Amino acid sequence: MKKIIAVNAGPRKNWNTAQLINAACEGAKEEGAEVKVYNMYDLEKYSGCISCFGCKLEKNLGHCICKDGLTPVLEDIRTADGLIIGSPNYLSEVTAAFRAIYERLIFQYITYKKEQRSYNDRQIPVLFIMTSNAPDAAYEEGAMYDGLIKRYQGTFSSFIGPTKVLLAADTKQVNNYDIYNWTMFDAAHKIARHEEVFGSKLEEAKAIGKEMAQ
Ligand SMILES: Cc1cc2nc3c(=O)[nH]c(=O)nc-3n(C[C@H](O)[C@H](O)[C@H](O)COP(=O)(O)O)c2cc1C
Repeated sequence: MKKIIAVNAGPRKNWNTAQLINAACEGAKEEGAEVKVYNMYDLEKYSGCISCFGCKLEKNLGHCICKDGLTPVLEDIRTADGLIIGSPNYLSEVTAAFRAIYERLIFQYITYKKEQRSYNDRQIPVLFIMTSNAPDAAYEEGAMYDGLIKRYQGTFSSFIGPTKVLLAADTKQVNNYDIYNWTMFDAAHKIARHEEVFGSKLEEAKAIGKEMAQ
């Protein structure tokens, strides 16, 4: 049975990012995979990489030795057959929680050797999900978030395994826009967009989850 680990690096457990992650998980489950979801904002206290270099010592090569709330997640990813990880776009980046796991997950595998780039010889498929207020156009070739996505996709592909990206742009951020004076957003457009587009994104996520588990 395939084991898929999913990580929600957004703080909201039922919103856009979480729903897409859950849809991908559903797809994987339908193919018979065992799926475990970690909500980063529910974990015990953790940090990003603390630069201890324990993972570069002969006895621990490729293993983060920092013990905290992220340890079980990293251990689970090490033995997983697929990784689903999602983050909302926060200030043109992933969330702080995402960065913490990203630093810990990737840095342990970096060898600092010319002859061999990574200590990870067990490649698994990755699905990287990002949701944002910004529209699809912001992710087009050469647009403001194109480089951001390519950077994460490239690093995941190099150190974890072949990485697919699922973007859900121009999301509905709140249920009731009327209680805020947010002149940047057209509430009717946001709601219509959610109704017209978000469902197909969920389908896409599910299909990728299925494929991951096959
Ligand atoms: C702290 C914060 C910063 C944000 N920064 C950006 C941003 O720079 N660009 C953007 O497109 N959306 C930004 N957003 C909007 C979220 O990315 C968007 O609403 C996302 O879909 C939220 O995901 P969720 O529904 O899973 O919480 C920000 C939201 C918050 C709360």
